Amino acid sequence: MRVGILTAGGDSPGLNAAIRGFGKAAIGAYGMEVIGFRDGFTGLAQGRVVDLPMAALSGILTVGGTILGTSRDKLHKMSIDAQVRDMTAQAVANVKANRLDAVVILGGAGTAKNAKLLMDAGVNVVMLPKTIDNDIVCTDTSFGFATAMGVATEAIDRLHSTAHSHHRVILAELMGHRVGWLTLGAGISGGADVILIPEIPYDVANVATTVHSRIERGSAFSVIAVAEGARDQQDSAEYAEAQALVRSAGSSAERRNAKAHLAAVESAQREHTFKLARELERATGLETRVSILGYVQRGGSPGATDRMLATRVGAAAAKLVSSGVFGVMTAVHGADVVPVPLSEVAGKTKTVPINHDWITTARMVGTGLGD
Ligand code: F6P
Repeated sequence: MRVGILTAGGDSPGLNAAIRGFGKAAIGAYGMEVIGFRDGFTGLAQGRVVDLPMAALSGILTVGGTILGTSRDKLHKMSIDAQVRDMTAQAVANVKANRLDAVVILGGAGTAKNAKLLMDAGVNVVMLPKTIDNDIVCTDTSFGFATAMGVATEAIDRLHSTAHSHHRVILAELMGHRVGWLTLGAGISGGADVILIPEIPYDVANVATTVHSRIERGSAFSVIAVAEGARDQQDSAEYAEAQALVRSAGSSAERRNAKAHLAAVESAQREHTFKLARELERATGLETRVSILGYVQRGGSPGATDRMLATRVGAAAAKLVSSGVFGVMTAVHGADVVPVPLSEVAGKTKTVPINHDWITTARMVGTGLGD
């Protein structure tokens, strides 16, 4: 069999480990030929390929990023020469031109929708879940998340010492897109005094109360982990209203306007961590600083947990392809890697349940959650 592989969406630690796991199993255990498409769906649409013989897979297990490159381009809405075009047919033609029996796609929540569109166009697809956000449904986790959580935890550790030395409040803004998994996980692991996530809109007064109670106990400093998608209760209500307008839009013109309004609200609320810093400094009298962790959470070599997980889902994908099981994602369910239908994954986001054990644990150890 001949199989194509591509990486789409934001990069994450473990992508190359997964490419290696898939390739070594596909070639070594199942005698397949493997080629890579460059830069996500763009390379598939343009037919930009690279051979991936066994030799190409050596030395990449520990390498961050993706040797294939990636992009956030969508097949059905690809901007080419300042025009937005549906390149699905071109992608299908390139699959045929390269005599491929299947395409393996490494991607996150957004990619699942594109993988399903490609499947609906008649291509045999297997998707490997990848993201530092842990926002993919139907899987306990995905490679990328554990490493990012480790990097963010170490950053929070480091922020504790400088906050303590200067008697400051330091707000660490973490990635995670529209969910709070990464911030909640790293916040608990890093001992953040307050953890603010999108799923629990916060009240600045409550955050200030936590800081004040620490001051009264002799700790005139605090470290607060803030998810990039977190909002105070007022902004959260405005954002929810803008989202509802998109959902209820009737005509395409209405939908376009509603989406533009939602984007404007998101943009206006993007600096929420700096806004919170100013409010907290006023409310607590402590100097307050912001540290945006940003892309260090995405870069660098994967940790052992993600190397293991990436290798497992990669090898599992090779077995699924060899068995002719397509239209699925290699999901992690407890100790097992199992195929779940892409139709159950596409277009959905896994948010943190309000009664999740991580939230209960945070409350039990006295972490403020802003509510
Ligand atoms: O999905 C991974 C992620 O890092 C999110 O946590 C973050 O919001 C987003 O990608 C950033 O996107 P970009 O890399 O396009 O700036």
